[in-house]
Amino acid sequence: MSSEQMYQAVILDYYRNPRNFGTLENPDIKARDTNPFCGDVIEMHAEVQDGRIAEIRFTGKGCAISRAAASMLTELIQGKSLEEAARVTKEEILEVLSIPISGIRLKCALLGLKVFKLGLYDYIGKAKEEETDGNKAPALT
Ligand code: FES
Repeated sequence: MSSEQMYQAVILDYYRNPRNFGTLENPDIKARDTNPFCGDVIEMHAEVQDGRIAEIRFTGKGCAISRAAASMLTELIQGKSLEEAARVTKEEILEVLSIPISGIRLKCALLGLKVFKLGLYDYIGKAKEEETDGNKAPALT
C-alpha cells in the first residue's frame, strides 16, 4: 500500500467513523456554512472554558474529504486556547489530511475550518462588545 493509499484509507475511516460528530446542548461557539460548489453543509459547536476550547463537535452533510477534515480539525482544536485556535491555518488542515488536495476539493477540505473560524470570530467579537459595555466578558486567555 502506498502512503497516499494509506492516507486515503485514514480519510475514509474518518468519513465512516467521524470523531467528535454531533452537537452540544449549549455551545458558546456555533456556526454553520455551506460549500457553495455543492451545497454541502457543516455546523460546528464548541464550549469555551477558561479561554480554551473545552469541547467541540460538528455535524453536517458532505463528502469524505469535508467530513474527515472537519473531524480532524475538531481533534486539532480541542483544548487549544482561543488565540491558538484562531491561528490554525489551512496549511495545517492540509497537512493532517496528508494527501495532495487542489482545485475544487480545497473548498471541501477547508469548509470545517471556515465554519469554525466564523463561529470563533463571532464569539470573540461578542466578548469584546460585552467588555466595552462594561459587562463581564468571557475570558479570552
Ligand atoms: Fe460537497 Fe465536498 S463535495 S463538501
